[in-house]
Amino acid sequence: MSKALALVVVLFFVLFCGKCYGELRVGFYKGKCGLTNVEGVVQNVVETWHFENKEKDIAAALLRMQFHDCFVKGCDASILLDGLTSEKKAVPNSSVRGYGLIDAIKEALEAECQGLVSCADIISMATRDAVVLAGGKWYDVETGRRDGDVSLASNVNLPSATISVSDSIKVFASKNLTQYDMVYLLGGHTVGVARCSLFKDRIYNFNKTGGPDPSMSPWLLAELKDKCPRISLIFDNTYPLDVKTPSLVDNSYFQEIKKGNGVLQIDQQIALDELTKNIVDDTVNDPDFYTKFGEAMVKLGRVEVLIDEQGEVRKSCRVVNKKPFIFGGIN
Ligand code: HEM
Repeated sequence: MSKALALVVVLFFVLFCGKCYGELRVGFYKGKCGLTNVEGVVQNVVETWHFENKEKDIAAALLRMQFHDCFVKGCDASILLDGLTSEKKAVPNSSVRGYGLIDAIKEALEAECQGLVSCADIISMATRDAVVLAGGKWYDVETGRRDGDVSLASNVNLPSATISVSDSIKVFASKNLTQYDMVYLLGGHTVGVARCSLFKDRIYNFNKTGGPDPSMSPWLLAELKDKCPRISLIFDNTYPLDVKTPSLVDNSYFQEIKKGNGVLQIDQQIALDELTKNIVDDTVNDPDFYTKFGEAMVKLGRVEVLIDEQGEVRKSCRVVNKKPFIFGGIN
């Protein structure tokens, strides 16, 4: 290397090193915790919670948690921070669950290697493990994220169940995700449930017509009428998003939405809209469906991540280390 070139390289690092961050990578924690296998610790706790049934349908809890974390200020575990006005207090997050499981994983990891594993990485690793336990296929998770120190309910701007396909595509595109990724990620609705209040209009008063959404199959309409009465003053019942195998990560969600059995409006619409219909058709016959779902989850895990000194590794996933974080208000 000529002296001039060497000088340029040195100058570049001196001037811009603050912006020279590392990258996410598979196996980031390998060898960083003595003989302890970090991913193994996560997996053990997830398996214990799964088999002891400490949290119902862990895959559903964590898939949704990862989506809601990554779509608000990136995958930085901001959803986990406690506070009177932190993200978890926002209405779209009111039914997000799984926080206790993340605490248990964090505790197990801190006991082995203090201050090493970020809460953001815990969400990604645990979600993958839960997907596998629910019948999905293993995918390698990238790690190396840091945790954020801002969590405000007012930042939560997640898509609603009635968003149009074209608007949803725009939202996903703003997170560097294609419409292809979007369809596969909506496959997360292969597990878990939705509250009747979020799709009741489709049963009784679709688009203010006083009748049901015509795209709904007669079978689903009868089912939903039964489980979600027009007037229910006390209970907001729930109904499975995948009407056939609600506890399994598989592609039956896609098979069902093709039959008019999509519970949320957006679920049904992706099977009908010209922009996404062909992708849904592909998922149904795709022998590589599970691999592609995993790839889409890895892409979700890359959204606006914090690396190195851009973030911190929290001691507790519910509180930031550095600044005085007061009820989600001042950061
Ligand atoms: C346009 C995008 C999306 C919309 C509009 C949407 C909407 C919803 C709604 C309204 C619910 C029911 C919530 C409740 O009853 O309180 C729900 C549940 C759920 N969502 Fe989504 N979602 C989207 C994308 C995703 C993605 C990308 C994933 C994961 C990869 C995901 C995973 C889940 C899961 C697993 C549940 C069930 C949670 C449980 O049973 O606790 N969703 N979603």
